[in-house]
This record gives sequence, structure tokens and C-alpha cells, in this order.
Amino acid sequence: MIETAINSKADGLTFNSITPKLGVELLLDNPLVEFSETQVNNLVQLAAERGVVVVRDQKMTPQQQADFAYKLGRPLTSPINKGKLPEELLLIQANEKSKKAAGTGWHSDVSSAAKPPGLSMLRLEIVPEVGGDTLFADMRQVFHSLSSEMRDFLKRLSARHEPRGHYLYLTGAKRLEELPSVNHPVVRSHPLTGDGAIYVNDGFVANIVELSKVEGNALLTMLYDIVAYSVDFHCRVKWQPNTVVFWDNRIVQHRAVFDYWPQLRRGYRVTIEGEAPVPLR
Ligand code: SIN
Repeated sequence: MIETAINSKADGLTFNSITPKLGVELLLDNPLVEFSETQVNNLVQLAAERGVVVVRDQKMTPQQQADFAYKLGRPLTSPINKGKLPEELLLIQANEKSKKAAGTGWHSDVSSAAKPPGLSMLRLEIVPEVGGDTLFADMRQVFHSLSSEMRDFLKRLSARHEPRGHYLYLTGAKRLEELPSVNHPVVRSHPLTGDGAIYVNDGFVANIVELSKVEGNALLTMLYDIVAYSVDFHCRVKWQPNTVVFWDNRIVQHRAVFDYWPQLRRGYRVTIEGEAPVPLR
């Protein structure tokens, strides 16, 4: 894992670090929509190394965001948009009528897919005056905080991920049983960096395949507690109108803070297909 000094420069991208290991804020000369292929590749690499990349003041239309998604890879599409929005976009919105907001529990996006997302890109157009932050947890640091005995044990395990919640709604499916569940390694390695990261999350994981229900639940509770309580492994993003945040779901989990009701918070997420997770050897 890289440890880059504050205000450093990497691969032609200039950024400020949010914390020493997790999260950067890019300082750009040209807007994202004008990014060259090299800049996109550097952005993808930076997200792989630092988990979270924040870019301010990126005005773009929903169609421009959808077009940008194809520079990152193959975006997930949603049949529920029905022509109101490009099918690559997921509306993220909470307002005075909302009893809850999307993504308020720790999770990695759509981990129940056979090839779960690598990058997500969220752009908020309207943000509350205060609040509505997004928290991120570095799952590489979670992995490295464990004893070597525990790390070796976890490397032998796999978890069953079930399609749930938002994902169920997005696909247009009516019932969970219509969508497949998948097994993924509990510890995966990042294809670009080789970094090992814990890959279980409360949003999608049903059980640990090799363990009894009671054993698996105890293990998952321990890991989720470490994710939630280890603030040294977190970073927090404060939004402004037209902030874009990229995160690499292979190595971070995130949760949205819903502390701004009844104010409006609105934006769009694109989610880019990754690869079948490879266990860390
Ligand atoms: C999400 O889980 O993608 C939503 C994150 C947010 O609204 O901050």
C-alpha cells in the first residue's frame, strides 16, 4: 500500500491527501469530461492506491456523466430509469418526504454480482447546507490490523453475497429469489496493486460458506465492528454542489450519513463492473 505525503504529485495528477493512507482530493487543470485516456488511467490507478478520489466543481449533464462512465469501463445499467435518465445512472436522492436514504449502512456496492463493481462515481448536484457526508473505511488497513493467524484463517474462507435492497429494486426484479447469489473470497487481492483487503460487508453478505451459521455470524460481527469502530482507517467526505467522488469498492466500504432531513440531497451514481474477485494468496 502506498503512503504518499500530503500535497504530493503522482502520475501527472496533483492532489491533496485526506488522510495519510486513504482518500485524496484532486487539483485539476482540465475538467473530468475532457480527461484524456492517460488521465483516466491515472485516475483509476490513484483510486486503486488511495481508495477514494474527490474532485470538486465538476458541472456536467447526466448524459456527460454516463459518457464518462464508459471511459472507466462497463457501467451497470438499470431498467427502472425508463428514459427519464440515462440507464447508466442511479438517482441518489433524499428530501423532506424521505424516511431513509440509500446506503446508510456500511457496504461495498453490489457485491452480490458475479463481477462486482470496481469503481463507483457519485456526483451530487444538490447538497444540504451542512451534513450528508459520506464515510469510507479502508478494508486493506482492516485486514492488516488483524493477527497473522486470523489473516491466514480468513484467507481460506469465502462468503455468500445475496442481492438486496437497492440492487433488487434497480434490476427491476420483484423478489430476491429471482436474482443469483454468489460466493466471493473473504480476502481479495486488488488486480492493479496486489493489495489484500477484507471483502465482506453487512449490506450483502448472508453467511460464511465454510463455517456454521453461529460461527460465521460471530466472525462477521467481529469484522463489521472493526470496520465501524476503527476510525483510524476512515476518511470522511464533505460534499459541495458538483463534487464528484470515485471510490474503489474492492478496497473500501462506505456509508452515507442521513443527518440532514428535511433538506434535499440529490445526485447520480455510475457503477463500473469489476472482475470476479481473486483470493489473496
Ligand atoms: C451509495 O451508497 O452509493 C450512496 C452514498 C452516498 O449517498 O453518499
